[in-house]
Amino acid sequence: MIFRQGVGAFCVAVSLSTVSGQTFQRLGSCPDLGCVLPPDQQEFLAGQAFDIRFEVHAPKNGSEAFNDGVPDEKFTATITKDGKQPQNIAPFFKLTEPALEKWTFHWYEDLFAKDAKTPSVVNVASKIYRRVALYEPGTYTVTLKYYSGKATTATWVVRPLATKKKAKNVIFFIGDGMTTNMITAARLLGHKSINGKYQSLLQLDKFPVVGHQMTHSLDTFITDSANSASALYSGHKSTVNAMGVYADSSPDLFDDPKVETIIELLTRIWGSAWGAVSTAFLADATPIALTAHTRSRYAYGPLIDQALHGVTNHSWTKTNGPDAYFGGGAEQFLPGSTSYLGKDYYAEFAKKGYSISLNKTALLAASNKDRALGVFCKSNLPVWLDRNVFPENLDKLNNDPSGAKGAAKDLPGLKEMTLKAIDVLHTRGGKKGFYLMSEAASIDKQMHALDYDRALGDLLELDDTVRATVEKLKALGILDDTLIVVSADHGHGFDVFGSADTKYLGAQKDDRTKRNAVGVYENSGLSQYTVSQPGVSYNTGPHFPQNWDPRYVIAAGMGASPDRRESYAVNKTGPRTPAATIAGRGSSDYYVSPSDNPDGFVVNGTLPTDQAQGVHSLTDVPVYAMGPCQEMFGGTYNNIDVFYKMSACLGLAHGKNVTDGYR
Ligand SMILES: *[C@@H]1O[C@H](CO)[C@@H](O)[C@H](O)[C@H]1NC(C)=O
Ligand SMILES: *[C@@H]1O[C@H](CO)[C@@H](O)[C@H](O)[C@H]1NC(C)=O
Ligand SMILES: *[C@@H]1O[C@H](CO)[C@@H](O)[C@H](O)[C@H]1NC(C)=O
Ligand SMILES: *[C@@H]1O[C@H](CO)[C@@H](O)[C@H](O)[C@H]1NC(C)=O
Ligand SMILES: *[C@@H]1O[C@H](CO)[C@@H](O)[C@H](O)[C@H]1NC(C)=O
Ligand SMILES: *[C@@H]1O[C@H](CO)[C@@H](O)[C@H](O)[C@H]1NC(C)=O
Ligand SMILES: [Zn+2]
Repeated sequence: MIFRQGVGAFCVAVSLSTVSGQTFQRLGSCPDLGCVLPPDQQEFLAGQAFDIRFEVHAPKNGSEAFNDGVPDEKFTATITKDGKQPQNIAPFFKLTEPALEKWTFHWYEDLFAKDAKTPSVVNVASKIYRRVALYEPGTYTVTLKYYSGKATTATWVVRPLATKKKAKNVIFFIGDGMTTNMITAARLLGHKSINGKYQSLLQLDKFPVVGHQMTHSLDTFITDSANSASALYSGHKSTVNAMGVYADSSPDLFDDPKVETIIELLTRIWGSAWGAVSTAFLADATPIALTAHTRSRYAYGPLIDQALHGVTNHSWTKTNGPDAYFGGGAEQFLPGSTSYLGKDYYAEFAKKGYSISLNKTALLAASNKDRALGVFCKSNLPVWLDRNVFPENLDKLNNDPSGAKGAAKDLPGLKEMTLKAIDVLHTRGGKKGFYLMSEAASIDKQMHALDYDRALGDLLELDDTVRATVEKLKALGILDDTLIVVSADHGHGFDVFGSADTKYLGAQKDDRTKRNAVGVYENSGLSQYTVSQPGVSYNTGPHFPQNWDPRYVIAAGMGASPDRRESYAVNKTGPRTPAATIAGRGSSDYYVSPSDNPDGFVVNGTLPTDQAQGVHSLTDVPVYAMGPCQEMFGGTYNNIDVFYKMSACLGLAHGKNVTDGYR
């Protein structure tokens, strides 16, 4: 882990990002003392804009100490295509030579160095070439030469250009953290089975094509939602916490070399409309990565400004803001310490012609002709289970998006937000089409909290939203012009392994006998969530459980967790908090929370003790596709390929010779 001055300034959620890692890297993308960003093995769309940064490192001390900490300032770099004569970077791209930059950073080489507080210090010389593009498909070799005789080489591949635009619109649903195991569990809760045969299915089960994507980061095998979203939207791998950039080692969070996202390409080339819908706060990684260019996902305020205005410095694309933008996160819109430069972003959006909705009624009444902003609460939207089954829990919140005291009232769900976004985007995109990203964020957020019921409720809400979307597109007559993709950005190690008798479990006195309430194999029985109980009416419609609180519940668990107590019963009073600190011990030293499932049995954690929640896991995640180009999404591929497949279908990148083939 690298730490630099400045990073802390935006780290609102810094406790989540200070992981006590086992593997420390000087700069993940840079195994030598010379760094080429984008690094080796990266791919590009022909005509996709990007920046190139070179860094030469001179470690002052530590195991790599070199040249007394003096970096080579006379380094040179060349580029060549398919083995032709190498050319210097500036003339090749017709740029003037940029100024040399210098900075210092430090990093820990291992946990012993961290314990001893002996960071290694590195001095850096660097140059950045801003906003270039490679138009001709083929293989390029970039060579950085430094310290008279050392060289770092990167091989880049520019993919062939699409020749036909096959889809007018793309709707990309992201179940954040959603895995096949979770989809299987949600089906068990929401759909009735007789003698091993389901009587109804998830909408996802009806998709004609399913594939798998690998989610690894550039420099770690476990990803986070920032850099995985960035890979899905830009076709470029990145680093944990980074979006739309290759993370460099400089202290500035915004000067890192950028890559153009699908939104920037689509609006630049086709003038399409675009929108983002999320049940998270809008500045959260998955929605904001559509437009964000920063090494720190925690720079929430500046990133909302980037969504509206584009990157206004470092010569990048000025964008015109989203056409539909619906979610939570009033903190970045209300004027104050958590908005960019303290400004009122409701007013900033209104200035640019947006309708502003702060509740469901206003959202549904908003014009489809105007650009639309909808912010319905502070922080994340309350989850489906609390909105629909335990609504009394909402009254306890202090999340009114207008900044008034009290709870946000009249909340839309993912379905209302998504269908409204389609109306606005269809109207505004017209012939030019649209791109919509719709995120079910709390599948991930509630899995982090080990609150399986709340996570699966939001997964069923996503499936219900996809079902309603298909109907909506049919009604608008654009189903055949629209590619629908449903996928995830990463997974969690969750699965169901049996059932649990909550009554027996609660009646036992010690942890070992409580565990005997878990039924495995022949004792697992059948789902009781689909059986309505006399006197119990949740009334949440078809495709959702009839009963969230049956006596026999699913017994489920996580591959990675803090200390916790399990009773498997639904928490009726609000989202679960599995682990807590203990007064008198460390402020980030987590133990099982005394108030979590007091009836349950303790399961000791597997994570470092500074982790309060579960973490992401290695699993590949599913990709469901329907519509034009659906056949491209079968098989197993990398997360960046989702971008290249969508781009091919949309006739990107430089577009001049691409014909509209979707009619
Ligand atoms: C490197 O030097 C800095 C002071 O400049 C010191 O704080 C640090 O402990 C040194 N690191 C190692 C690994 O010796
Ligand atoms: C670039 O813009 C961001 C906001 O998007 C801002 O925080 C940052 O300070 C700016 N950097 C420079 C060098 O102007
Ligand atoms: C919803 O928003 C509209 C427009 O701002 C407002 O007039 C109305 O009172 C709000 N409704 C609720 C329930 O807050
Ligand atoms: C449910 O979650 C809330 C919030 O974390 C907690 O205070 C409460 O004790 C939990 N209830 C049970 C039965 O675990
Ligand atoms: C959990 O770990 C503690 C030691 O940290 C041990 O005393 C306790 O018995 C363990 N509990 C279980 C259920 O394994
Ligand atoms: C696209 O058109 C340009 C001229 O406008 C031409 O130079 C280029 O070779 C064409 N590219 C392809 C892939 O056909
Ligand atoms: Zn997550």
